[in-house]
Amino acid sequence: ARDIRLAVVAGDGIGTEVVEQGLLALDTALHGSGVTISTTDFDLGARRYHATGETLTDTDLDAIRAHDAILLGAIGDPSVPSGVLERGLLLKLRFALDHYVNLRPSRLYPGVVSPLGNPGEIDFVVVREGTEGPYVGNGGAIRVGTPHEVANEVSVNTAFGVERVVRDAFARAAARPRKKLTLVHKHNVLVHAGHLWRRTVEAVNAEFPDVTVDYLHVDAATIFLVTNPARFDVVVTDNLFGDILTDLAAAITGGIGLAASANINPDRTAPSMFEPVHGSAPDIAGQGKADPTATVLSVALLLEHLGLTAEAARVEKAVADDIADRKGQDSLARVRSTAEVGKDLAARIAG
Ligand code: NAD
Ligand code: IPM
Ligand code: MN
Repeated sequence: ARDIRLAVVAGDGIGTEVVEQGLLALDTALHGSGVTISTTDFDLGARRYHATGETLTDTDLDAIRAHDAILLGAIGDPSVPSGVLERGLLLKLRFALDHYVNLRPSRLYPGVVSPLGNPGEIDFVVVREGTEGPYVGNGGAIRVGTPHEVANEVSVNTAFGVERVVRDAFARAAARPRKKLTLVHKHNVLVHAGHLWRRTVEAVNAEFPDVTVDYLHVDAATIFLVTNPARFDVVVTDNLFGDILTDLAAAITGGIGLAASANINPDRTAPSMFEPVHGSAPDIAGQGKADPTATVLSVALLLEHLGLTAEAARVEKAVADDIADRKGQDSLARVRSTAEVGKDLAARIAG
């Protein structure tokens, strides 16, 4: 029998609420499959930071490495200075575990009322680079707080880092029916990084001749996400553009409560991490209002990554069926509580 060792980082705010439902979905999906799951809870986030001053120690990181996958809720809390947990915990995990493919699928499920009205079929995936760009912390400030302050955040783009994520995106595009890859950048202004991305896409295209490539500047990409989202199949982009585009992608497909993501280490040298796209939502935390669907869909991505394809499909179908029955109601759990949505999804997974 196979046992999956899962590291659980529930985190802050609604993170704990949605992870509980994600774990229920996971348990239910594996029931009777012969695959068991052993979870380890990691006390990371605002509580731990206030208690010890720690965000993610080397000991934590080593312990997490010993798992097959990570399920994360969300981190970040108004009581902690902005950036401390985001950088010291979440980004540290993504960087240390080499999660260079941040996979963020967007699909308009039947029954979802898009704010776009009738946008046609939306089914694309953003491959967001996860370990470089302006996120690396290559910056600094001088004369802080004075009228002469200078604050820099340098975007780091390496040939190695760009090529590996671009190759992954091509492989994903080649495996999809439309075989289309859109590079999103801003090479008209960010000429150094932009041209590295463009040249890399051109070069790797030779390995994937069936894939059609196009390019959009990021500002224009936001137009087309709203006016013609059906034009997108696979999008490859840098860490920051990908962050922004995927919140927009969530908004057009039923809201942030439905958007799932996978932080993948394709070389499998460390566990991959699965988490909703959304954050800790301090405005609704502790009220049972969070939609756990994004976390449940992230569990489907986790199952898929572990090769449990049938179980992943069952979870996704349960979500699709539940969404169809929401009859256009706001995807955010205003009608049912977080726990009620979780229970209903589990019942559908159980079949
Ligand atoms: P957010 O995603 O937490 O919230 C944005 C809006 O969406 C809020 O109105 C919130 O109530 C709503 N929302 C989010 N998830 C929802 C859900 N599942 N169901 C219903 N409504 C939902 O983004 P923010 O407000 O910019 O950030 C809050 C904190 O979370 C910050 O500390 C930020 O750094 C952190 N954050 C963490 C992650 C992560 O852990 N991966 C991601 C994004 C933001
Ligand atoms: C996300 C979040 C994170 C990011 C923050 C919290 C560091 O917004 O996962 O989308 O920017 O990647
Ligand atoms: Mn984000």
